[in-house]
Amino acid sequence: MIYSLEINDVRKRYGDFEAVKGMSFRVRKGGCFGILGPNGAGKTSLLAMIEGLTSITSGSISVLGMDVATQIRKIQPRMGVQLQQNNYFRFLTVAQLLKFYQELRVAGNGKRNGKPVAWLLDRLGLSDKLNFKVEQLSGGQKQRLSIAVALLGDPDVIFLDEPTSALDPHSRLYTWEFIEQLKQDPDKTVVLTTHYMEEAERLCDEIMIMNDGKLIAQGSPSELVQSMQAHHSIQFRFAKGRFKLEFVKDMVGVIDLQWDDKTDCLRVQTREVADTLREILAVSENQSIDVINFDVNRPNLEDVFLSHTGKD
Ligand SMILES: Nc1ncnc2c1ncn2[C@@H]1O[C@H](COP(=O)(O)OP(=O)(O)O)[C@@H](O)[C@H]1O
Ligand SMILES: [Mg+2]
Repeated sequence: MIYSLEINDVRKRYGDFEAVKGMSFRVRKGGCFGILGPNGAGKTSLLAMIEGLTSITSGSISVLGMDVATQIRKIQPRMGVQLQQNNYFRFLTVAQLLKFYQELRVAGNGKRNGKPVAWLLDRLGLSDKLNFKVEQLSGGQKQRLSIAVALLGDPDVIFLDEPTSALDPHSRLYTWEFIEQLKQDPDKTVVLTTHYMEEAERLCDEIMIMNDGKLIAQGSPSELVQSMQAHHSIQFRFAKGRFKLEFVKDMVGVIDLQWDDKTDCLRVQTREVADTLREILAVSENQSIDVINFDVNRPNLEDVFLSHTGKD
C-alpha cells in the first residue's frame, strides 16, 4: 500500500494548550481524504504541521514517504497548499498574481507540466477575471483563486483548508465539481478539511473525524454510517383524526414509533425500511386513511458526526 501521508502520535501545543492530542492515521495515495471536525477541533493546526508551516511538538509526520521534520525542502515542491485565510497582493491583477506564484514555483521546483493556468481558471469559473485586481474580487472568487494558486506547479498532494466555507451555493458547486475533476488523476491526493457533512459525503473517499484535538473515527462515509448502526426513519402524515397507533403494533424491524395526534404525524425508526413502508401503506389502505405525505431519511454522516462530537 502506498501512503501519501503517515501521521504518528502527533501533538501540537501552544503554550499550555494542547490543540492536537496525539493523533495517528494514514492517507492512501489517490482520491480525496477529508478531515472533518467542528470549529476549534484542531484541523488547521494539524494541517499546518503536515505542511511544514509550524513545528511538530512531538510525534512524526511523513509526506510522500519523506519526513516533514528533516526533508521539508524536498516535500514542499510536491505539495499544493490552500490556507484558510489569504492575504494576496491586492493591487495585482489575477493574471499578475498567478504569474508571480508560478515563477516562485518554477524557482523552487523547476518546471513541471501541470494543468495550464487557463484550464484552472476555466474550471474555477474565473476566466473572465484575469484583468481584475485581487481587491475587486468577491470573497468567493478570492477563495477560488487561492485554489488555483495551490495547484500551480503540479503538486502531488493538495491541501485545501475549508475550501468552501463562506461560499455562496454557486461558488461551492464550482469548487465541488473542480475537486471531483482533480480526483480523476490517480496520482494526486487531495486532503481537505471541512465541517460540512454534505461536502464530505459528496467528495471524500475516506474521512477522519476529529474533535478536541483527537481522532474519533475513520473510514469511508458508508463505513462510518454503518458502524453507527443508525436506522432509517420514516415520517408519515395522515388525514386528520383517522389514524391510531394500535393499527401498527408489532411490525417487524421497527425500533421506535412516535405518534403525534396534534399534527397527525407518525415517526418510525426501522431496520427494514421497505417492509415497514409496505405495512404502513397497507394499513392506511385497509382503514381507508389518506396519507398526506411521507418522508424517508437514511442515516447520514451528520448522524455519525453528531453522535461522536455531541449535539453542540
Ligand atoms: N497560534 C495559536 N496559538 C494559540 N492557540 C491556537 C493557535 N492556533 C490555534 N489555536 C487554538 O487551537 C485550537 C484548534 O484551532 P484550529 O487548529 O484552528 O482548529 P480548526 O481549524 O479545527 O477550527 C483552538 O482552540 C484554537 O484557539
Ligand atoms: Mg481551521
